Amino acid sequence: MESGHDTSTSAMMMLIKFLAENPDCYQKVFEEQRKIALEKRAGELLNKDDIQKKKYSLNVVNEVLRLSPPIQAMFRKANADFTYAGFFIP
Ligand code: HEM
Repeated sequence: MESGHDTSTSAMMMLIKFLAENPDCYQKVFEEQRKIALEKRAGELLNKDDIQKKKYSLNVVNEVLRLSPPIQAMFRKANADFTYAGFFIP
């Protein structure tokens, strides 16, 4: 797993899949993006405020990550026994 690459790819792929399966959600995401795009001049880039306006789209992405997390679990093995916050980690 390459940091930030496979995870983002998985999230984007599942986003497209879920939007294809839920045309009503797709329409709302499309409208939200379109509304922001129409407020911009030709060639004007998105800024932080624009991104914060994408509330519905952000909720959709969060729901995609909840339903199909790119990383399902993480397993670690301690190199040595230790105690942390009262818990013994073998
Ligand atoms: C939906 C997208 C993403 C998910 C689900 C995700 C998930 C995770 C998870 C679970 C870890 C912890 C791995 C561990 O315990 O060792 C992690 C670490 C990391 N991620 Fe992401 N990630 C995402 C996107 C990105 C992006 C876009 C970047 C870079 C631009 C990035 C960079 C990193 C780096 C550098 C680490 C290691 C941090 C450390 O050393 O502790 N990730 N990511």
